[in-house]
Amino acid sequence: MVEILPSILSADFVRLGEEIARVEQGGVSMLHLDVMDGHFVPNLSIGPPVVKSIRKATRLTLDVHLMITEPDRYIAPFIEAGADQISVHQEVCPHLDRTLRHIQSEGARAGVVINPSTPVSLLQDVLDLADYVLVMSVNPGFGGQEFIPGSLRKIRALDSMRKQYSLPFLIEVDGGVTLENLAEIVRAGADWIVAGSSIFHSPDPSATVAEMRHAARQALSVRV
Ligand code: DX5
Ligand code: ZN
Repeated sequence: MVEILPSILSADFVRLGEEIARVEQGGVSMLHLDVMDGHFVPNLSIGPPVVKSIRKATRLTLDVHLMITEPDRYIAPFIEAGADQISVHQEVCPHLDRTLRHIQSEGARAGVVINPSTPVSLLQDVLDLADYVLVMSVNPGFGGQEFIPGSLRKIRALDSMRKQYSLPFLIEVDGGVTLENLAEIVRAGADWIVAGSSIFHSPDPSATVAEMRHAARQALSVRV
């Protein structure tokens, strides 16, 4: 079952509650929350207090994407704030095995993220531990960028690795997803698809989400 995860980075923060309610009406079950520290990525976004407020406003699964240099320091605060799952970047985790176990021991699902320049092969020894792998299909930091086509090869590689070794991790994709490229991404093997600007900058986010979910189901029905 493919899920569409709206990224609130492109939502109107003055009306965040309404924006979330809209995508909820479109039938999503998960929400993607981008955390940026101005160090790992050249942008700043939200912290635990905002996650806490969102937790009060919705029962959707909260997927927290940490684009920060020292994720270990913030795992507990984000889980206390209401995160259901947390992903950390491979590029900033010298002790990735420990960090993923830390997230799981705090009671959340643990994901590992790779930038467009990071090869899938570097994840080989944590694939049996991670609950999900997030493939960045843009360079992280901003919404509204164009999908990097080479990401499809990485999704396919992860999909065949999990089949080959019978591993249960899910594959998430983040950046530049549109109604036009969605089918190709699903057919490559993605389970969770993040979309920010193509949802929240559309005239009717609720209808767009419903349309994306429909397109994902259609693509799955022809997946081999
Ligand atoms: C980018 C973030 C994304 C972003 C995606 O660094 O991780 O989640 O919101 O936005 P779009 O879908 O507009 O590329
Ligand atoms: Zn993200």
